[in-house]
Amino acid sequence: MRYLLSLLAFLLAVAAASAQPGAGPQRAAFYEGYDLDAEAAFVESLLARMTLEEKLGQLTQYTGQWAVTGPAVPETGEDEIRAGRVGSFLNVYGADYTRRAQEVAVEESRLGIPLLIGYDVVHGFRTVFPVPLAETASWNLDAAEEAARIAAREAAASGINWTFAPMVDIARDGRWGRIVEGAGEDPYLGSRFAEARVRGFQGPTLSGLASDSTVVATAKHFAGYGFAEGGRDYNTADFSERTLREVVLPPFHAAVEAGAQTLMSAFNEIGGVPATADAHLYDEILRDEWGFDGFIIADYTAVRELMYHGIAADSAEAGRRALSAGVDMSMVDGIYARNLPALVESGELPLAVVDEAVRRVLRVKRRAGLFEDPYRYSDADREARTLLSDAHRAAARDVARQSVVLLKNDGDVLPLRRDLPTLAVIGALAADSVSAMGSWAGAGRWPETTPILPALREALPDTDVRYAPGYPAIPRAPFLEMVEAAFSTDTSGHDEAARLAAEADAVVLVLGEHRELTGEAASRASTELPGAQLELARRVIAAAGDRPVAVVLTNGRPLALSGLDAIAPSILEAWHLGTEMGPAVADVLLGYHNPGGKLPVTFPAATGQEPIYYNRKRTGRPHDVPGASDKYVSRYLDVPVEPLYPFGHGLSYTTFAYGAPTLSATEIGVDGAVEVSVDVTNTGDRAGVEVVQLYVRDEERTTTPPVQELKGFERVELAPGETQTVTFTLAPADLQFWGMDNEWTVEPGWFTVMVGGSSLDALGRAARFELID
Ligand code: BGC
Repeated sequence: MRYLLSLLAFLLAVAAASAQPGAGPQRAAFYEGYDLDAEAAFVESLLARMTLEEKLGQLTQYTGQWAVTGPAVPETGEDEIRAGRVGSFLNVYGADYTRRAQEVAVEESRLGIPLLIGYDVVHGFRTVFPVPLAETASWNLDAAEEAARIAAREAAASGINWTFAPMVDIARDGRWGRIVEGAGEDPYLGSRFAEARVRGFQGPTLSGLASDSTVVATAKHFAGYGFAEGGRDYNTADFSERTLREVVLPPFHAAVEAGAQTLMSAFNEIGGVPATADAHLYDEILRDEWGFDGFIIADYTAVRELMYHGIAADSAEAGRRALSAGVDMSMVDGIYARNLPALVESGELPLAVVDEAVRRVLRVKRRAGLFEDPYRYSDADREARTLLSDAHRAAARDVARQSVVLLKNDGDVLPLRRDLPTLAVIGALAADSVSAMGSWAGAGRWPETTPILPALREALPDTDVRYAPGYPAIPRAPFLEMVEAAFSTDTSGHDEAARLAAEADAVVLVLGEHRELTGEAASRASTELPGAQLELARRVIAAAGDRPVAVVLTNGRPLALSGLDAIAPSILEAWHLGTEMGPAVADVLLGYHNPGGKLPVTFPAATGQEPIYYNRKRTGRPHDVPGASDKYVSRYLDVPVEPLYPFGHGLSYTTFAYGAPTLSATEIGVDGAVEVSVDVTNTGDRAGVEVVQLYVRDEERTTTPPVQELKGFERVELAPGETQTVTFTLAPADLQFWGMDNEWTVEPGWFTVMVGGSSLDALGRAARFELID
């Protein structure tokens, strides 16, 4: 019989330290020095002067469109602003243009309420940083914060005051195209990156949010979007409250704690309730439990889509359900402005619901400093100076290099010699600047992006760099044509590629996904190399014989690479790295930068293993325990259960050795903590970075524990021969789970801690402690 330990004391202490209901110390620090009373008085006095039409206008966002001069509001948009019937635009930017739009709002509308101007500044604005999944592979929180800060600085100079980022959806299924936008599969890693990105976009304090170089952040998509069945975008999700709490929500909670002022509703339903109409998510969890006081924006037409979900017969009912559930602003469909006045007038929708939503929106506008100076964000001089500055490009290159993961390097193929007489670069993606930018590339421009081929030519001026596309380059064409070309099985380029490989002193073979195969509405039923790329790899590797062949992958999801792994001695995962992709990859290939990235997602051995993730449950019939049956165990008959490359995996040009982990105590009480220390030594002859990872397993509890869960990590930079001791602290609060009675719980008993350079490596390096009552 075990006894439940209540965490009440802990939670009370946290609540006492905070300025917001239900908030923790991090948020208390964010809100410190900000006058909430003055804000409330301001909002109330404005609200008291608003008509119903103006109120619903504040809850309405429309999209801009591409005009001759750039992205602008549509023709009728200025009239809507003037009439107070719109509170926000998305897809509108440019210092001059946004200044004009704000002028209409501030000087020509009755109440002069400025606009929120939103845009998907997801991994950079004009200077494009690595796609978020790649950036997470750096496991470098400072780098992610800096990348978001630069993105905010650039976007803010162009008149944007609100970004629809960070995307914090946990994704365990590589078939889902939007896995590229998030931090991968792990709630702990995802939470740390969510905080870092929110801090980068918004700055460290609420008072500072009104600066001219920060933008309001949006944690999206609330919630469960990454759990789309079969990895098919927008599809139904169905999971338990326990999975919601333990896996899906932690990064959102972390974002809210870091001060995120808005969240975006998800397109999907969860177990029969569309997220855009789910009061459990907004009212109960977000507002009551977490004390969130910002606002919720519906995803693009998600309010209207409640009709397709089958829970609303018409737009008015869709609008009523969404707003009543706590979704404060509708995006694009205009339903709140158009259909809700009649419902308020008939009494079907209480005015109080509208008022509360308006308060939240006005609050965020005031926090963004818009009432103080609506033009602060739109500064043409600053825009000219800031966008794509040399410093920003240098930062993008640095983050890009850190995002690269060395998956394998048999025989030390990499780094390549810098005095090669000839080098064959094979693969159309090596010359593809559009794909290098990745999905959601902000205001990035492909001519300003350097892909791999020109960067290698520049880095190797004395080498004869020869190029063959090998597979078809993707034309700039309508979406479906590009997709068809990306999956082309045309092998007509293989002969030329093999000829180059046979003649060169070394080969860089670039394989992977065009960016149109990644991101929104880009699910794949098979995550293997597309088209005839694997066949090309076979030809090229065979033709190269004993000469070094380095495979460079550029893609936006965990690929199923068993076929490639069987033939390629060296594989470098380079994702879509943004504006500076080429120079960053060249730095790594030529050894100017020693790779230190680690996978934030599991790479499967076969697509059929998806969803696959390291923090899985053991099941009642594990295949990998002593005495397991040959038949009646949880596995596949045709592919292994194990992934090809585990979560946390990544090699270096040097090697690291770990000592045995030691614990400061083998027994701790509820108020105690245990320190876990491990010595890590660079045993090679180059300086390198190792990401030391700490995992924990609860050995027995009342709900099933995962086999291991990440609870800490640290990047250490080690000179050759250097040893550092890395120490992590674990407290009972780190060991919580969603208990049988639907509360966060810790139970006494034994815990195993594991330390290593990947989730798999850590399994072999364990120590145990007991939590006592
Ligand atoms: C996406 C959101 C995005 C919005 C606005 C939607 O299709 O799901 O992530 O923020 O469009 O561009």
